[in-house]
Amino acid sequence: MSFTILGTGMAVPKYSMTNDEMSKIVDTSDEWIRTRTGIQQRRICTTETITDLTVEASLKALDEAKVDPKELDLIICATLRGEYITPSQACVIQSKIGAVCPAFDVNAACSGFVYALDVADSFFSSGKVKKVLVVGFENLSNITNWEDRSTCVLFGDGGGAVVLGEGDDLLSIHTTAKGNPDVLYAPHGENCSPFYKHESEKPHIHMNGNEVYKFAVTSMVRGIRKAVKDAGLTMEDVTYVVPHQANLRIIDAAAERLGAVPRENYLCNIQNYGNTSAGCMPIVLDEANKAGKFKKGDIIAMCAFGGGLTTGSCVIRWGK
Ligand code: UT7
Repeated sequence: MSFTILGTGMAVPKYSMTNDEMSKIVDTSDEWIRTRTGIQQRRICTTETITDLTVEASLKALDEAKVDPKELDLIICATLRGEYITPSQACVIQSKIGAVCPAFDVNAACSGFVYALDVADSFFSSGKVKKVLVVGFENLSNITNWEDRSTCVLFGDGGGAVVLGEGDDLLSIHTTAKGNPDVLYAPHGENCSPFYKHESEKPHIHMNGNEVYKFAVTSMVRGIRKAVKDAGLTMEDVTYVVPHQANLRIIDAAAERLGAVPRENYLCNIQNYGNTSAGCMPIVLDEANKAGKFKKGDIIAMCAFGGGLTTGSCVIRWGK
């Protein structure tokens, strides 16, 4: 026995920053960003905190699922940087929504949401839980180097949540890691120890975009093929693909290689939100769910890739 999705929710900051506004900060243009990435705008936190937004997304998902926070057996939050170093963001969410269950964070960068689903699956399979809240959220604007045009145009803040209940709608799930702290990383930042002999770095995201691009296309094709095969299905059975929202060109290239699923069934909202890392997938799921796109029995293949380097792919049957 594993899980089924009972409800979804999302939350993004109010401020939507356009490419034209970005071009006032760094040497870039709307044309470059649109044609190279597909991004038109991204949401950036101004007054909101990651706690405000993760709690908002969680409450929306619980509301749709008709699950009281006290019924939750576990909260997992996928994020690479919550409100505090400790407590975990999941514990902060637990206290704000009035839940009483265990809670912890998972850090697998952009693949974090799928990693968190994988952990949830293990808890369901071992019979330890009946209701789980999984949140994927990122506040990347606070670790973005706003002077580096090759990265600052890509990222945004936001995320979402799903409430999981017992069921058999997770058909397959697969995660990978290929440790490589050179091509995509963000250091901690200041080290407070008076004894530490190295210079402090700002906690900025560093990325070799071309290297990650190649990894991304290969990973998406490989990850989706494996998840679909492990589910005992073929690409022809897949109704929708929910890809990580890093770059429309990555999604186009993977869609062309995978075939079978029409390009319009690759659900994309990178135009509006940029890359929100672990937040991407739950936002896409919630927008499609609330728009009434998913029908009971639809087969949804999901694939994420990112820092680590990590990947996560899964196939879920829509059960609502
Ligand atoms: O979710 C985490 C995973 N992340 C990803 O999957 C990101 C994967 N990588 C990418 O999506 C792409 O590699 C980027 C969007 C980051 C870069 O696109 P690209 O087509 O690979 O561009 P490039 O890095 O090869 O740069 C091409 C040119 C360079 O100028 P020169 O050397 O040809 O004169 C860059 O300096 O574009 C320049 N450039 C820019 N120009 C205007 C780089 N960033 C910008 C910018 N505006 N924002």
